[in-house]
Amino acid sequence: MPKWPKPAEGSWTEHYPELGTGPISFRDSTSPEFYELEREAVFKRAWLNVGRVEELPRVGSYLTKEIDAAKTSVIVVKGRDQKIRAFYNVCRHRGNKLVWNDFPNDEVRGACRQFTCKYHGWRYDLEGALTFVQQPGEFFDLDAEQYGLSPVHCDIWNGFIFINLDPEPRQSLRDFLGPMITALDDYPFEMMTERYDFVAHNNSNWKIFADAFQEYYHVPSLHSQQVPTAVRQPNASFECGHFQIDGPHRLVSTAGTRRWLLDPEYMYPVERATRSGLVGPWRTPETHQSAGLNPGGIEPWGITNFQIFPNLEILIYHGWYLLYRYWPTSHNTHKFEAYNAFHPARTVRERIEHEVASVVLKEFALQDAGMLGGTQAALEYDVVDDFPLSDQEILVRHLHKTAVDWVEEYKAQRRPVGV
Ligand code: FES
Ligand SMILES: [Fe+2]
Repeated sequence: MPKWPKPAEGSWTEHYPELGTGPISFRDSTSPEFYELEREAVFKRAWLNVGRVEELPRVGSYLTKEIDAAKTSVIVVKGRDQKIRAFYNVCRHRGNKLVWNDFPNDEVRGACRQFTCKYHGWRYDLEGALTFVQQPGEFFDLDAEQYGLSPVHCDIWNGFIFINLDPEPRQSLRDFLGPMITALDDYPFEMMTERYDFVAHNNSNWKIFADAFQEYYHVPSLHSQQVPTAVRQPNASFECGHFQIDGPHRLVSTAGTRRWLLDPEYMYPVERATRSGLVGPWRTPETHQSAGLNPGGIEPWGITNFQIFPNLEILIYHGWYLLYRYWPTSHNTHKFEAYNAFHPARTVRERIEHEVASVVLKEFALQDAGMLGGTQAALEYDVVDDFPLSDQEILVRHLHKTAVDWVEEYKAQRRPVGV
């Protein structure tokens, strides 16, 4: 992976001339019409992460994923051949939703030998084939081979399960992820299996929340209780060490923030007592450091935040990581999924460190989420449409441009020739 330090002249943003430096519009985050296009252009065409392989540990393990933006539900299941496959969650007889428990719109997970439809009892095996029909003689030349579950493209990168709802994806998963993300091929995510999961239903467009995690310009102001005094001074700078863009994806690295922990002023007593907190446990098991983790060569390295288009974010710290997914539920609401993943605790102390890190991080994220309703509401007043972005907000600029570019490309493809 080539190192790509801050250019000697100019700014991060000017390093990517296609981004421009002018004010940007946020209409892509307030317009119901744009959202309808985004569903088709983005969520039905991009590779979407729906889980990790550890969530499907054995033959017959399955989970369902409700993808509101694509108006669909998908079953992800491990077959008898250990291969993970995805199918639309639709019975081929009369269209009943195949896998659900108490409420049809709730996601479920479990393990089974086959899927049985609740309505008329048709059964499907773990590879999606139709294996049982009640009273088959009543049908008219029913060829069971033609009525297996409808497949969804499914592929795995470094243990992350992705699906693609496009009948013919334009790129393989690997090509889609590109060199900046696949430089993490050897990062051992599979070692960090102690997870703390969170879900929140937020009142903003999905991109508006993603924006809160792709710039640190807001940190001294919004998170003032949790940054050192020096950073809170007027005009004190809080600059990220490295920004990088590769196709639709982005990353930002920051320097070794663990040093801040030595400043007792902004720390909660529980953080001092447990030696854990905002940036995780102060000490973590030695974890192999992939070359792709720090492409800017930041020393001391602290965190790299990988933003995988459209809605996945992986923040890697020393020896643990955080994952976010933003699932739109309308033009101005979304479901936010997050988890922290640690090496499994070996002692009670380590378990407590993980719990404290999870709780403190959740508070931090709530501070960000607390802004969302206000931002979304004011954007929807629709009185301002030229918002200036600083160099530290380059990734905000890139996310919105990418979403608009995908929609424009989709519209151009749909338009009949000559119009
Ligand atoms: S709808 Fe599933 S068996 Fe009839
Ligand atoms: Fe924040």
